[in-house]
Amino acid sequence: MTAVELIERKRDGGVLKADEIGWLIAAYTQGEVTDYQMAAMLMAIFIRGLSGDELDAWTEAMLHSGDVLDLSRLSSVKVDKHSTGGVGDKVSIPLAPMVAACGVAVPMMSGRGLGHTGGTLDKLETIPGFTSGLDPTTFVSVLEKHGLVLAGQSETLVPADRKLYALRDATGTVPSIPLIASSIMSKKLAEDLDGLVLDVKVGRGAFMKQREDARRLAETMVEIGHARGVEVVAVLTSMDQPLGREVGNANELRESIDVLAGGGPDDLVELVYHLGSLMLMLGGAARDAREARNLLQKAVQSGRALERFVRVVEAQGGDPDAVTDPSRLPRPERTVEFPAPRSGYVTSCDAEAVGIAAMRLGAGRRRKEDSIDPTVGITVLAKEGDRVEEGEPLAILGYRDESGLDQARSVLQRAWSISSLPASRQPLIIEEVRA
Ligand code: URA
Repeated sequence: MTAVELIERKRDGGVLKADEIGWLIAAYTQGEVTDYQMAAMLMAIFIRGLSGDELDAWTEAMLHSGDVLDLSRLSSVKVDKHSTGGVGDKVSIPLAPMVAACGVAVPMMSGRGLGHTGGTLDKLETIPGFTSGLDPTTFVSVLEKHGLVLAGQSETLVPADRKLYALRDATGTVPSIPLIASSIMSKKLAEDLDGLVLDVKVGRGAFMKQREDARRLAETMVEIGHARGVEVVAVLTSMDQPLGREVGNANELRESIDVLAGGGPDDLVELVYHLGSLMLMLGGAARDAREARNLLQKAVQSGRALERFVRVVEAQGGDPDAVTDPSRLPRPERTVEFPAPRSGYVTSCDAEAVGIAAMRLGAGRRRKEDSIDPTVGITVLAKEGDRVEEGEPLAILGYRDESGLDQARSVLQRAWSISSLPASRQPLIIEEVRA
């Protein structure tokens, strides 16, 4: 078998066999198949797609390219949530402790921000001392003790994805449904889960701009999980405008703590409770959405959810006082208002533009190797449907240097559309996909 034969066959619309795919992924992971050969294969897949059997074999080969966690000694049901990535999407941070406080174990493995989208790990790491790089033994022991762990993906879990994702990023082959589905699901299957809730973002700030594409991605991932005995529910949610008010890192963490303390903006709270209810139902802790919501509300009102977060932060080396007193979290050195150019109603607030502006301020990475500035970010004051007056702030920009600020301002010029006619708010939760 040679890589060239397989590339040519895929290029010409042929079908790859399971053993061929298994060989290709293993050989690539070990460095026997080169980056340029795999880049050609990825482009062939991007254009030709993968059949159901090919996708199955591709996911399986990625899953077994490294270690797979064994969480069988945990007595509780294990459910995780994964988002395909968005702007202001800090849902995991309040959600995971809320669900854990209701008795469902959450082995949460998150990623870092890239491009205009943020990452949960970057936000959590604004807590002084907090570490997300846990070895498998610590991962399991934190999970056993607290029913929750908030970690990054270890080096040994699905190493094929680490290489493939970097290559896709550099070759314009990220937005391919089979490649995204296998990338996400191989990592989630390696977590030894019983259930998984997927938040598939759709809209201006998402990978999937069209609802049909998002639905196909959701169906594909649900199918992959179902075939392997993991119950998966996917929810399509809007990423046309940023979620919540804060976009950045420390400011997003503060907003997350607000939700755990019973506050937070309506859209963020709505999504956290919706996804949390699905997790509790998947985990068998609630029979229906109403019961689940009650349990989540009680966990927040009693302070148990926040307490769970504090204990896990402490177990992972973080300063618990930074959670109980979020004013201790880093703040921007300087802030400035971004004013409305005219009066009217906000018809859209472009999530992608806000995400890019936050990245230009230093809150995100252009390339994987870049570092982020935890202090800077954007507070979005005007969202879809809001009335604004000329000169009033649409947002507050937290910044460090003038050059980042200038770039962010220039991107934000196109972020808001303002009309003289009242505009309605589009629904946040669009539809659900199940097996
Ligand atoms: N997130 C992933 O983990 N992989 C993708 O391919 C896209 C988003």
